[in-house]
Amino acid sequence: MNIIVTSLKGGVGKSTTSIYLSAAAVERGYDPVTLVDADPQASSAEWLELWPVPGITVVEAPSERTATRAIQRVDGVVVVDTPPGNERVTQSAVALADAVVIPTRAGGVEYSRVTATIELIPKRTPHGVVICAARLGTNDLDAAIDWWKEQKVEVWGVIPERVSIAAGPEARLSREGLENYDAVLGRALRGWR
Ligand SMILES: Nc1ncnc2c1ncn2[C@@H]1O[C@H](COP(=O)(O)OP(=O)(O)OP(=O)(O)O)[C@@H](O)[C@H]1O
Ligand SMILES: [Mg+2]
Repeated sequence: MNIIVTSLKGGVGKSTTSIYLSAAAVERGYDPVTLVDADPQASSAEWLELWPVPGITVVEAPSERTATRAIQRVDGVVVVDTPPGNERVTQSAVALADAVVIPTRAGGVEYSRVTATIELIPKRTPHGVVICAARLGTNDLDAAIDWWKEQKVEVWGVIPERVSIAAGPEARLSREGLENYDAVLGRALRGWR
């Protein structure tokens, strides 16, 4: 089961989402769970090096070639964190996806970058956006959700803006983050064996 976390847009929550989805998969009892870090910045690999999550194996694959090979060779649940703005890596990763999770933001979002990302995904591959660092109860959030509905793009989750989720490798994963991302994982896994 290959879950690709991707967006051509930077700084939207790809690495955070990759970590939390992997941890949620471990909590659901999947074994093995592998996080393939295809971003040369290696932020998720570094995060798990500083604060390891038992049950998640990290594979650093900072090129199109190494990422493709890792995705093809690893069994179990594979979550792939991808670099921003790299169309080639994104395209070759989504070609191997069973599901694609696209982190995005509400408000001031460049919808066109997300739409461009969605256009790279094979037609039949399940995909959905996840609105990260969302301010619950705001008009911006409602407008974003409506906009995606109009575009016939599924919204797989809304992750609230929380200091505990933003803490990264400085602290353990937040319970609230894990619960929210578990729902996203459920959507990604739907229809899989
Ligand atoms: N739910 C959240 N609440 C608060 N802050 C968040 C949340 N999710 C992500 N962030 C913060 O947003 C910033 C970007 O997140 P992240 O590094 O995961 O994005 P990215 O898409 O992987 O970035 P890049 O394109 O540079 O790889 C980080 O500072 C992260 O802590
Ligand atoms: Mg990242």
